[in-house]
Amino acid sequence: MGTHILWVPMKFIFGKPVDEPFDRESEIRQLVEMANRRQPTAIVGVRRIGKTSVILKGLKMIETPKVYLSAEDFLEGKSFDLISFLSLYSSLLITNVMNYVEPKRKIPQIVKQKGKELLEMLRELIGYVKISFNINLVEVEVFLNSVKRGGIKESIPQILELPQRLGEEFGIKNIVVAIDEFQYLRFASQNYPGIFHLLRSKWQFHSRVSYVISGSSVGLLEKIFSSKKEPFYQFFFPIYVKQFDENTSFSFLKQSFEEEGKEYDDNALLFAMKELDGIPAWLNYFGLKSLQCDKVTLECVKKTIEDMIFNDPIVRRIVQEEYSKLGKNAKTILKFLAEEGGRGDLKGIELGKSSINEGLKSLLDDGYIIREERGVYAIIDPIIAKVLKKL
Ligand SMILES: Nc1ncnc2c1ncn2[C@@H]1O[C@H](COP(=O)(O)OP(=O)(O)OP(=O)(O)O)[C@@H](O)[C@H]1O
Ligand SMILES: [Mg+2]
Repeated sequence: MGTHILWVPMKFIFGKPVDEPFDRESEIRQLVEMANRRQPTAIVGVRRIGKTSVILKGLKMIETPKVYLSAEDFLEGKSFDLISFLSLYSSLLITNVMNYVEPKRKIPQIVKQKGKELLEMLRELIGYVKISFNINLVEVEVFLNSVKRGGIKESIPQILELPQRLGEEFGIKNIVVAIDEFQYLRFASQNYPGIFHLLRSKWQFHSRVSYVISGSSVGLLEKIFSSKKEPFYQFFFPIYVKQFDENTSFSFLKQSFEEEGKEYDDNALLFAMKELDGIPAWLNYFGLKSLQCDKVTLECVKKTIEDMIFNDPIVRRIVQEEYSKLGKNAKTILKFLAEEGGRGDLKGIELGKSSINEGLKSLLDDGYIIREERGVYAIIDPIIAKVLKKL
């Protein structure tokens, strides 16, 4: 297709993970290699960079049972619904293992054939917990019930054994467990102190499971696996998902516009690439918006990007929502940097020293800024910087 050597059909998509991530072959290959050797892996990258796309594509290429779930879905404000998380976790594991062991059969058939035996085994596996099952055509749903005497706390260690036990029971050498936005699990510590310790203490002995975690809170994740004080110290092999470099952004836009059948000027794409700075989600959003132009000229690009920053309700909502979740000091600093053009030192900011330190720590932890040199910080996402300046 086309005259390019590395041609991949590419159309603009915004929001959901993409099936064929552009230029992430090496990250995906690395993930598959690590999972195949059961090396715990952490996929690290800021918001909208393409982590989930890399994980899903990697999982697709691995021929063992695998489950994917995002901890973000179980976050309610600053508390974490661990019970629902573990219910889905168990359901996905059991369903995927069933489908793997008996690929040609529907779940009810398997249950009918193995019936009692199977349920007994599952009950035994996650024994202490009061569980109920809902078995339909395509899945086994597990409901963990915390009413049982002793509560659910004592059962969590057992539930965490589930993938390893399923592996042993069914003779499966490798089951891949991928938990996206893993950092949010720390909020479970409010009700279940020491959850990370418990996870590590179980995971490190699981010879039949590959654990993949991922998250946008770059600084925080790095601390989780590289600080001596943390339970996951030296546990994960990190794979970084980074911004596209200039060449990559340029070829991505070029190939996508060609695929869309849209004419473009090279200098217009160069301008867009500089403004959007290699954040794949924004490149796609820009691409979709500029399909309105007859031809993607410099004028079209300038107008489109201006519109993204000043008038676009979706972009504004994304920025506002993320901004509103930040603490007071972090907000002040981020806004200050935005007004400085996206990077600079913090001279003249109206915050005390300890507030500055607290705010900086939180912004670095959450992957909103980087430290460029001593005292100089930059907002990573150019759209956040530009929109915030106007907010
Ligand atoms: N490799 C890629 N090629 C093309 N587009 C991409 C690529 N990676 C990401 N995108 C764009 O970014 C969007 C978000 O991708 P994805 O959900 O994988 O990122 P993420 O890092 O997991 O984001 P979030 O921080 O919101 O979870 C996609 O809808 C798509 O527009
Ligand atoms: Mg994601």
